[in-house]
Amino acid sequence: MYFQYTKKAPFVLKNLSIQIKKGEFFSIVGGNGSGKSTFLKASIGNIKPQRGKVSFLGKETSKLKGDVLFRSFAYLPQHPQSFFIHDSIEKEMQETVKRHHVSNGSEIITKMLDAFGIQHIRYRHPYDCSGGEMQKAALACMLLGNPEILFIDEPTKGLDPISKENFAEIIQRLHQNGLTIVMVTHDIEFAARYAERCAMMFDGAITTIGTPKELFSGNYFYTTAINRATSNMHIEEMLTLEEAIETWPNHVLI
Ligand SMILES: Nc1ncnc2c1ncn2[C@@H]1O[C@H](COP(=O)(O)OP(=O)(O)OP(=O)(O)O)[C@@H](O)[C@H]1O
Ligand SMILES: [Mg+2]
Repeated sequence: MYFQYTKKAPFVLKNLSIQIKKGEFFSIVGGNGSGKSTFLKASIGNIKPQRGKVSFLGKETSKLKGDVLFRSFAYLPQHPQSFFIHDSIEKEMQETVKRHHVSNGSEIITKMLDAFGIQHIRYRHPYDCSGGEMQKAALACMLLGNPEILFIDEPTKGLDPISKENFAEIIQRLHQNGLTIVMVTHDIEFAARYAERCAMMFDGAITTIGTPKELFSGNYFYTTAINRATSNMHIEEMLTLEEAIETWPNHVLI
């Protein structure tokens, strides 16, 4: 697909072609301004490419009914403030369960808030939450609709290490239950650990696509700290702490 924001502006997406498989955890990495967020917006139909098309399960999304897209797609934008329209997290979630016709709404909301550890902000205005809390609340809210594909833009940005671990657990559970995940991130460690396939995006196009190992091995900037630290050791390349522990089970890794 090709996309430009205005007629006189340069193309932000150029000859971009990606196929996401049903049920996979797909991650996109790449430089600032390379078009990653724009790609997500085009995928969910927020913006329309000037050339090319987006299809969902073989059907062009622009021809699908709005409620099909609404039920199937969930999108967590890079700046989650834009997600909230009501004056409390509770109201936001109640309206979401109503729109999605979820039965036992209040019960499900309680479970979701517990899963994210954010019961304490239930009745708070979204703008009175911290950045990380707002992000968790937005994600919790969109999961209430039980989507088929989750598009998430830099979800680990601003999360403390424990929240990131909780988030990883939640996302893995959802993935195991069949959710397709498309994640844009600058967090290479996170992508290497959890994504099944990754793509590198530069200047509006995908330059490389493959498993985290194929993509991040032998790359100095786009790789993990473990890979960088072990690159001169003449051993098989590794990306994650788990792989390092497997290689040196009897060593203390600091
Ligand atoms: N609403 C907009 N109007 C005009 N230009 C835009 C708009 N949004 C983004 N752009 C431009 O499109 C290009 C791609 O932006 P995009 O937000 O997709 O990049 P990104 O890869 O997500 O970057 P980052 O890693 O910094 O989030 C940038 O040059 C940006 O300035
Ligand atoms: Mg972005």
